[in-house]
Amino acid sequence: MDGFPDVLDTCRRMIDERQPNFLRLYLNPAVGGACLLLNRLVSRTFPCVLFREPDPVFLATSGEEALSGALKLARFTVCNSAESSAGESRVREQVLLLDPQSRFPDFAALPFVSGAALPLIPEVRVWNGNGDPEELSRTWAGGIVVLAFDNIRSVAPGIARAVQQLIRRPGLLVIIAVTRESLPHWELISRQDVAAGDWSSLCPDIVVFDDSFTGGTVPFGAFVARQDIYRPWMRGKRSTFHSTTFQPNTLSCRQFLACCRVADPEWFDRQRPDLKRLEASVEALHQVYRTLFSPSLSRLIRKVRFDRDRMTASGHEFRVGRKGYFDGVAGVACSLRGHNPPTLVEEVLASRRSGVDARADVSRRLTQATGLTHVIPATSGATAVETALRLALAAQYPRTHVLVLSGGYAGKTLLALTGTTRAWYREQVGPLYPHVVICDPFAPDAIERLRAVLESVPVAVVQTELIQGVGGVRELPPDVVNFLHQQREHYGYLLFVDEIQTGMFRTGPLLMSESCRLMPDLVTIGKATSDMVFPMSLTLCSEAVVRSAGENAPQSTTRLLQRAGCESGWHVLRNALERAEQQNLPEQVRSAGEQLLVSLRRELAGCRMVRDIRGRGLLIGIELNRRSLAFRMLGPAVSRLYLLELLKHRERPLLMGFCQFEPHVFKLTPPLSITGDEIRDVSCTLRDVLHRSVLKVAASGLKALAVR
Ligand SMILES: Cc1ncc(COP(=O)(O)O)c(C=O)c1O
Repeated sequence: MDGFPDVLDTCRRMIDERQPNFLRLYLNPAVGGACLLLNRLVSRTFPCVLFREPDPVFLATSGEEALSGALKLARFTVCNSAESSAGESRVREQVLLLDPQSRFPDFAALPFVSGAALPLIPEVRVWNGNGDPEELSRTWAGGIVVLAFDNIRSVAPGIARAVQQLIRRPGLLVIIAVTRESLPHWELISRQDVAAGDWSSLCPDIVVFDDSFTGGTVPFGAFVARQDIYRPWMRGKRSTFHSTTFQPNTLSCRQFLACCRVADPEWFDRQRPDLKRLEASVEALHQVYRTLFSPSLSRLIRKVRFDRDRMTASGHEFRVGRKGYFDGVAGVACSLRGHNPPTLVEEVLASRRSGVDARADVSRRLTQATGLTHVIPATSGATAVETALRLALAAQYPRTHVLVLSGGYAGKTLLALTGTTRAWYREQVGPLYPHVVICDPFAPDAIERLRAVLESVPVAVVQTELIQGVGGVRELPPDVVNFLHQQREHYGYLLFVDEIQTGMFRTGPLLMSESCRLMPDLVTIGKATSDMVFPMSLTLCSEAVVRSAGENAPQSTTRLLQRAGCESGWHVLRNALERAEQQNLPEQVRSAGEQLLVSLRRELAGCRMVRDIRGRGLLIGIELNRRSLAFRMLGPAVSRLYLLELLKHRERPLLMGFCQFEPHVFKLTPPLSITGDEIRDVSCTLRDVLHRSVLKVAASGLKALAVR
């Protein structure tokens, strides 16, 4: 993109420095720097904000994803304040999105040729520049307004007056969605440019940023929110409430900083000393994490002492000083070939120089492998799922129901929550897409239950994972999968298989659907599409889906199909697919997976703490015995204590995670290039630690945690 630094240069520097990229337990100066500059951009643009406490930042991978998070936060806030002011009734059309340039088309509703529209996020009224704005401000009585003007100074006087009236309303939550180009306009009016009218009430509660701040070179998005409304989300259980696989990541943050330097060199130079301080001082960086990013992450990093020395990552391990740790999480199933592949940038540059159309090549390869003709880019698993749902619902209109399976996980953005079935994730951020039916695939009578739903509800699309990765590494019963596959025509629904976790060779083949002999209408892949370098996900779908969606909702379908994605992301993915073919990755993963399962079962045989070891390929779950006395007494803390002990292993320390829905199930998702020796080491570490008694582990954990 013109004028912006080449993201591959940023990538090369990151790789040369072996800076960890997709690793949460890393006190990352790039993340700290990005949070600091986002905060300063907000206080420079909106001087009223200067008088507040520092405002925390949420990092996302697109403007749309950040807006989704911002609305969740705003709804959560409104919901809690409505609860406290007893009995206050909820208002219809709670959100007003003023989006005259249609920067967020199809965000809240799907428009059809018939003139009808299907609300995807209920109670959001969108004003896209048509109709009388004063009338709008008179008739709308909600609590959250989003201003997405490209140039607020050039709007007609009537519109400016209406917005000025709106933002004067007491108690209204104001979200401003800015772009790099719109910032100077907001700055001018908020500094009381008298010619622009009375903007004295303009003081946003949340500011949303999009990828114009990285010139579209790498996925980027963020919001900065008022400290007092974001604080409840930064504490305890809610701290990972809106987290995503790809955030935070080093590449997007470094590229954001590099773009800030180019876009405004003088301003950037003034920030430089503070940025340098973050690189030089661990305490300064902790302070930024604590106030602007994630206090719980800052605490955790301190507890595991990953801030004691320089952290680097390459291949299958990361190092803190001289101590190396095997990365059994690998960005949560994101890695094909380990951290910071040293030859990646040269390989990508060579393919760029050869003039190859990376998108066309990736699409050709994926279509050949899956039979699905359309490949649409997204910036995260959640946004890929949203694309799949939009296409499916457009294709199936007037059918509107989505059948999802309990225990399923599909991401945390507002529409993606359709497939995330745990109530806790959905509480206080609604209303969400309402036409959802949930069925339990593990019930003994699952088939009868599914049949009963399909007989009574005109289901548009069935959304399913094949292994519930977040839900405990649980493979769906084959008879349920077969039933859903075989009954498609009879009941007229589409089959959408979410392979964000199981796809990209994680279980062996490119898609797990292949092993189940499934031919879905829509598929999503993500995580390893990034190869732990470049955030990117995809939605794949059939010609028939696109044809039908195009007939019913031509504008939205065209917009989705025209999504470009980032050129470098396509190249990284092309590189990954090419290498996978050359190295026969499916066979490699199948064999490594079998070895790992055999080795784990051997080493953990007779271990009282372990109840089950399961999985496919290199997606492995180790279920701890929840009925043990330790679990009954200490709850999920037991998992954390054992994970800590794995990190503290003297000879072969191991980083592992647990399933978000089921903290007693450990999840192992190592790089797909894991070697035989590493499989042996990982199994031995797990043997050494899981055979220890809880008392011993608890004592050792408490000792470690007491040090600071
Ligand atoms: C099956 C599935 N779908 C969607 C997602 C959401 O992906 P992301 O975190 O990239 O938004 C995940 C994440 O774990 C997933 O496992």
